[in-house]
Amino acid sequence: MTVLVLGGAGYIGSHAVDRLVQKGYDVAVVDNLVTGHRAAVNPKARFYEGDVRDQKFLNDVFDKEDIEGVIHFAAFSVVPESMEKPLKYFDNNTAGMVSLLEVMNKHNVKRIVFSSTAATYGEPKQIPIKETDPQIPTNPYGESKLMMEKIMHWSDQAYGIKFVALRYFNVAGAKEDGSIGEDHHPETHLVPIILQVAAGERKELSIFGDDYPTKDGTNVRDYVHVVDLADAHILALEYLKAGHDSNAFNLGSSTGFSNKEMLEAARKVTGKEIPAKMAPRRAGDPSTLIAASDKAREVLNWQPQFDNVEDIIRTAWNWKQTHPQGYNDRETK
Ligand code: UFG
Repeated sequence: MTVLVLGGAGYIGSHAVDRLVQKGYDVAVVDNLVTGHRAAVNPKARFYEGDVRDQKFLNDVFDKEDIEGVIHFAAFSVVPESMEKPLKYFDNNTAGMVSLLEVMNKHNVKRIVFSSTAATYGEPKQIPIKETDPQIPTNPYGESKLMMEKIMHWSDQAYGIKFVALRYFNVAGAKEDGSIGEDHHPETHLVPIILQVAAGERKELSIFGDDYPTKDGTNVRDYVHVVDLADAHILALEYLKAGHDSNAFNLGSSTGFSNKEMLEAARKVTGKEIPAKMAPRRAGDPSTLIAASDKAREVLNWQPQFDNVEDIIRTAWNWKQTHPQGYNDRETK
C-alpha cells in the first residue's frame, strides 16, 4: 500500500516524503511544481506532475496507485498575497480540497492528513491557543484552510472519510544533513530572511513593528522544526489507520520567541552581525501566537526532537550555506 503526498515537492511536504521513505513507507507524490521543487522530492518516491484540481489527472494517479491514505500539503500559503488575491486561494486551496475528496471517495480512500494552520484561529482571545478555541480567520489564507477543515468534516459525515487536521504554528529549519530545506520565491518568512541577511544576500532585516504588547514590543511566535512537523503527519496517518475518529491538533513547541529574540539567536548561531532596523507593522500580524500542543503529545504521542530555536536555526543555516541559491531551479529569486 502507498501513501500519496499531495504537495510533496514543497518545503514541508518534501520533508514529510523524506521521513516516510526513511521509515519504510511506499510513497507517491503529486505536485504541480508551481511553488515546489522537483529536486526536493526523495528519489525513492514516485512523482506525478499535476494539479489537484485536475480530476482527470488525479483519477489516473488513484487508478495507478494502491493508496492507503493521503497527506495533503498542496496549497498556497502567503498571507499578504491572499489579501490581494483571495480567489486564487479559494480556488487552489478550497476548490482543490473538493476535487481531492471527490476522487478519494470515488476510489474508496478514506484517510486524509491535512496541512492546516494557526491562521484558522485569527487573533487569539487567549494564549496558549487550544484546539477548541474559536476559529475566526483574519485573512483569506486562513479562511481557505478553515473551509477545507469544514469540507472534510462534512465529507466524514457523509462518506466516512476520516481526517486529521494539523494546525501548524511557525515552521522553520531543514533536514540535518542540509540536503533539503526551505526555498520560496519570493521569501517572506522570518528565519530564511534573517539568514539571507547573514549570508550577505540582503542588506538588513526589517523588523515589522516594535510597539506590540509583548516582552520587547516585537511579535511573538511559536517555532517548530520541519522534521518534527513531518513526523507528526506520519503519527496522524497511523492514528487514522488504527481506526480512530477524525480530529484536529496544534503543532507547536508551546514556547514563544519574539522577533528580536530570533534575530539574537541567529546572530549567535551564525556568528554574523545581521544588521536590522525597525519598520512599520505588517498588516494582519497578530501580536502573539503560541500553541497549546499537549493534545498532539498525548493523543498522537508526538515527541519533537528539536526543542530550542538555536537548533532550528542551525539546521536552516546549514541548508543555506550548502545551497546558497536554494534548489537553483528558478530564473529569478
Ligand atoms: N517578520 C519580520 N520581518 C520580515 C519577515 C517577518 O519582522 O522580514 C516578522 C513578522 O512580522 C512576524 C514574524 O516575523 O511577526 C513571523 O513572520 P512569518 O512571515 O515568518 O510568519 P507568520 O507568523 O506571519 O506566518 C506563519 C505562516 C503562516 C501561518 C502562521 C501561523 O507563514 O502561513 O505562521 O502561525 F498561518
